[in-house]
Amino acid sequence: MFVANWKMNGSGAMVNKWIEGVDSSIPALIQSKCIFCPPSCFLYHASCLIEEQDLKISLGAQDIDPISETGLTGGISGLMLKELGCKYVIIGHSERRENYKEENSLLLKKILAAASEKLKIIFCIGESLQEKEAGETYNVLKHQLEITSKVANAKIIIAYEPVWAIGTQNSAEPAYVEEVHIKIREELKSLEIKDLLGVIYGGSVKMDSAKQILSLDNVDGLLLGRASLDETEFSSIALKSTTN
Ligand code: PGA
Repeated sequence: MFVANWKMNGSGAMVNKWIEGVDSSIPALIQSKCIFCPPSCFLYHASCLIEEQDLKISLGAQDIDPISETGLTGGISGLMLKELGCKYVIIGHSERRENYKEENSLLLKKILAAASEKLKIIFCIGESLQEKEAGETYNVLKHQLEITSKVANAKIIIAYEPVWAIGTQNSAEPAYVEEVHIKIREELKSLEIKDLLGVIYGGSVKMDSAKQILSLDNVDGLLLGRASLDETEFSSIALKSTTN
């Protein structure tokens, strides 16, 4: 699977161009493996285009707010995301963990909010450079994964994104990715996660690294940031990584 995470980028015109480009270059079978996550203000527009043009790509949001009994100005609920056409939602991206101090207790509420609307969750985990250098990677990942076992009916994709690789132009070495993904799967097994949809990698994936990373035994897909903004680059990655 290929997740296009646009972060806080784009415009209505870019959405038009992106959808058109993906539609004309990626066959339906591969489109069905693509999840488009533009900023929430473009979700409805994207959803209408996907429907009008009968594309097979799915739509995902970049965030969700927890269920609130007391009101939450500026919040966006799972029900709203569904109405906007989303099937997926990203939760726990490192940029939000860092900038908004999003930690396990809040992230669990977000997972619950998504699961209660049957949104599939793309749950991001990853260690910082400091944590890596201190030999803390697996403890950090274990702690981040802990909450995934607390929601019985969550359909979940784990996106391993080492923080030190995001936005740097250098993805992690394939051997490192494989080693960490094996550990993640072991941990998920011990947590008895039932509805695991896959373990994917993100962090500066580009054309040259995509195929190699995707060919690893324990990698089920890619989460693309910068490389997903350009429809030609995104389409080539999706096409070339799935064909010989
Ligand atoms: P990047 O972003 O591909 O630009 O490193 C990935 C992400 O942060 O999801």
